[in-house]
Amino acid sequence: MSRAPSSAAGPGAGSGQGSAPGKVILLGEHAVVYGHPALAGALSQRIFVEVAADAAGPCVYLTSGESAPAELVSAFGAMAAELGLGASLRATVRTELPLGGGLGSSAALGVALARALCEAAGQPCPPGRAAYLALHLERVFHGAPSGVDPAVCALGGLILFTRAQGSAPEAVVTLAPGRPLHVLVALTGIARGTRRTVLPLAARREERPALYDPLLSALGELARGGADALVRGDLADLGVRFDAAHGILAALGVSCTELDELCAALRRDGALGAKLTGAGGGGAALALAQDAAQARVLEQKARARGVQCFAARLGPEAQSG
Ligand code: MEV
Repeated sequence: MSRAPSSAAGPGAGSGQGSAPGKVILLGEHAVVYGHPALAGALSQRIFVEVAADAAGPCVYLTSGESAPAELVSAFGAMAAELGLGASLRATVRTELPLGGGLGSSAALGVALARALCEAAGQPCPPGRAAYLALHLERVFHGAPSGVDPAVCALGGLILFTRAQGSAPEAVVTLAPGRPLHVLVALTGIARGTRRTVLPLAARREERPALYDPLLSALGELARGGADALVRGDLADLGVRFDAAHGILAALGVSCTELDELCAALRRDGALGAKLTGAGGGGAALALAQDAAQARVLEQKARARGVQCFAARLGPEAQSG
């Protein structure tokens, strides 16, 4: 569905702008849903949102003029209502991130919308508030989000995230890598919504907790130790953890042939480790490089095989905004 955005202004509605980066999960995806830690990093590619008055609102358009799905529009309306804004608002979205590619586009969109709406409402939007508001959108895409994606998209940099559980509050630790962290992000080209892997895994675990819980705990341990390795600058250790995590994620049933083959090829190319990143079932793979030069070599080799990919440096320099 598409139409040209209307410019009719609604009474009292403000305007605002916001942006947020995409993300990769280095270790701990899926396990984080069950209370284990996950290690996540922001990318430099961002999503940008402009909010303006529109009597036909709430509505959300991509810069191409294409309208967003109805459930996303209603999540936008709910976010605006929570900030005391009326429904007469239009959001226009420009993205540098592939949508539905496993790189946090839904969380980045949620955080960018939260920032734009807060500006329109004349309210501050610190990272915790942006991440909280972004959960409106995450629930549309995820079903059962842990909150790690909006947390890293709102904070930027590298974080170790543990969701709130019982009386224990959410824990977010920002990390400074002991050595520059260079990775290759390689896309399978298969867009698969996060709920398509999160919810079936929840059903499998519900049926056989004795089989699945130790695997999820092991992923959490890999993330916890991975955070230590990252801070020490022990890239070899981190790479081994990538490979181990991919094996466990495959055992949990959230990988696919394309991801398995992509990771195997990236290891053959010389990556220190390679794994699926995010929800899996398609989306993207993440390979760890020794340094920037090796990341470029990995990129060239993957591109020569026709893989869409980009090299990235993770860490505090991939700023939030
Ligand atoms: C998706 O990036 C990460 C998952 O663990 C889902 C979540 O934590 O919300 C698969």
